[in-house]
Amino acid sequence: MAKMAAAPEPAAAPRLKPSTLVDTRVIYCGDNLEQFQKLPDACVDLIYIAPPFNSNRNYEVFWGETKEKRAFEDRHASTAAYIDSMRPRCVELDRVLKSTRFFDYH
Ligand SMILES: C[S@@+](CC[C@H](N)C(=O)[O-])C[C@H]1O[C@@H](n2cnc3c(N)ncnc32)[C@H](O)[C@@H]1O
Repeated sequence: MAKMAAAPEPAAAPRLKPSTLVDTRVIYCGDNLEQFQKLPDACVDLIYIAPPFNSNRNYEVFWGETKEKRAFEDRHASTAAYIDSMRPRCVELDRVLKSTRFFDYH
């Protein structure tokens, strides 16, 4: 009776970064303008933002079982001041998005 050759072991998956442009295995925290400025041009496929809305309110919630306090201020000196704070961030996100961009602005 002929012997069957054992099936070859599957090759180990290469441990490459999903992107050569930016380390997508990291969650970067902090002011998004500072974080954007560390990124090269055209390195991002998708951006979703839910920025402050200029609602002239401050928000505070106690989150989850630990009741961690999460808060942010959404009061600005004027609508122009709000736009002035958003404009450089929008310029940066336009710069870092690829031409195949997906952008969702909530
Ligand atoms: C309308 S809330 C959106 C909340 C978010 N969608 C969520 O479910 O937690 C606006 C959020 O933007 C954050 N934020 C405000 N200015 C920021 C900035 N310069 N960089 C990064 N995040 C900022 C606030 O802390 C707040 O959490």
